[in-house]
Amino acid sequence: MESFIIRGGARLKGKVEISGSKNSSLPIMAACLMAEGKTTLRGVPRLSDIDSMVKLLGDLGCHVYRHEAKESVGDGPTLNGPLDITVTEEKKFEASYEIVKTMRASICTMGPLLAKRKKAIVSIPGGCNIGDRPIDLHLRGMVKLGAEYHTQNGYAILEVKGRLKGCRMYLGGAQGPTVLGTINVMCAAALAEGETVLVGAACEPEVGDCANLLNKMGAKITGHGTPEIRIEGVEKLTGCEHRVIPDRIECGTFMIAAAITNGELELKHSNLDHLIAVVDRLEDVGVKVERQNGTIFCSSQRRINPVEMTTQPYPGFPTDLQAQLMALLCLGDGMSVITERVFPDRFTHVGELNRMGGRVRKEGSTAGVQGVKELQGAPVMASDLRASAALVLAALVAKGETKVDRVYHIDRGYEKIEQKLAAVGARIERVKER
Ligand code: UD1
Repeated sequence: MESFIIRGGARLKGKVEISGSKNSSLPIMAACLMAEGKTTLRGVPRLSDIDSMVKLLGDLGCHVYRHEAKESVGDGPTLNGPLDITVTEEKKFEASYEIVKTMRASICTMGPLLAKRKKAIVSIPGGCNIGDRPIDLHLRGMVKLGAEYHTQNGYAILEVKGRLKGCRMYLGGAQGPTVLGTINVMCAAALAEGETVLVGAACEPEVGDCANLLNKMGAKITGHGTPEIRIEGVEKLTGCEHRVIPDRIECGTFMIAAAITNGELELKHSNLDHLIAVVDRLEDVGVKVERQNGTIFCSSQRRINPVEMTTQPYPGFPTDLQAQLMALLCLGDGMSVITERVFPDRFTHVGELNRMGGRVRKEGSTAGVQGVKELQGAPVMASDLRASAALVLAALVAKGETKVDRVYHIDRGYEKIEQKLAAVGARIERVKER
């Protein structure tokens, strides 16, 4: 088991290269199951979740090859070589429990497998540390496209005779739209017969990124980025080249790192348009955010104003940055209020932040964050990916030493986070059991 040891108090200053988006890469890799010939993906980060998807695609008959890193500077992150994905065999249909339990985004293989191989067997994900994670909307979408579906021993088994059939459907749920559900159904509809209209679709940039990939493969998708996506089904998709969008959650996390350490960071290869609600809240907090071409300059003055923030589907403030913003507001000059509307139980970081001297009180899906003068280093436990990032941020400014245990959660979604932080002045090291 690995941990981070962080000594707080260093002011971060310098350049950080933002990686390609994990949440874009995972469903895009799954979509490659539908293409004939090779697809080359650029900007795919090196993360344990990506490794899990590579393994799953291998099990499903794909040849996946990662090139050496030697990309030209200028048009995107240079950390990693491109990833080639070619389907060589189409005999298998299954995303097993073993893989889905470690990486929930494995369910993104459902739509591609069903549309291309006419059958998908996908382990139904259980809850996780951020709350219940049902897949009813994914399944409802597939059934509307003509799939037959039953469950057996914890698996969803979907089949279709002939091609899926396009239709008009509403895809929203009680908590609003679903990101991966929209992508899953959009992928399936890309190879369906006739037109599909997804009403109540998720507008997240990751949905648009996957639609752009599919269009390069030959799909006919319009309206992505809006709540109504139109998909004119085609008979075949062909491999293409595609660069995934920058990781807006990693970028937002580093913006908050600049703010919490009273620092000054230059975030390269990022897209501020995808972070408009985050910038809006950070500016209210007192953080200065500027853009020049593909670089974001983020700096902060000492004072952290308290703010109210509610997480919402895109373009609202993302739930994936809620925990990190809470860490910042722990040091606010007064009482902040955070409401979680996407995953109402996503508050496992509250107890750990309070162990570090925070004064956060949760009431249902709302947390009152009373600012304190300082946080103190403490041994704390990472519980999920973004909650862990919040603990790292708090540790960067806490007095003394913090040990963050179970950093495998962070490795799922932040590429080389300790190296990127150390390069701009953080005192952080990765240690094996101490
Ligand atoms: C994706 C992101 C995750 C992010 C989330 C919300 C990936 C790999 N993960 O997850 O980081 O936090 O979007 O922005 O991209 N819901 C249902 N039924 C369903 C599906 C979802 O009720 O069938 C509910 C969920 O419980 C949740 C809400 O809808 O309350 C939104 O979830 P969803 O957008 O589906 O999250 P994911 O796509 O799984």
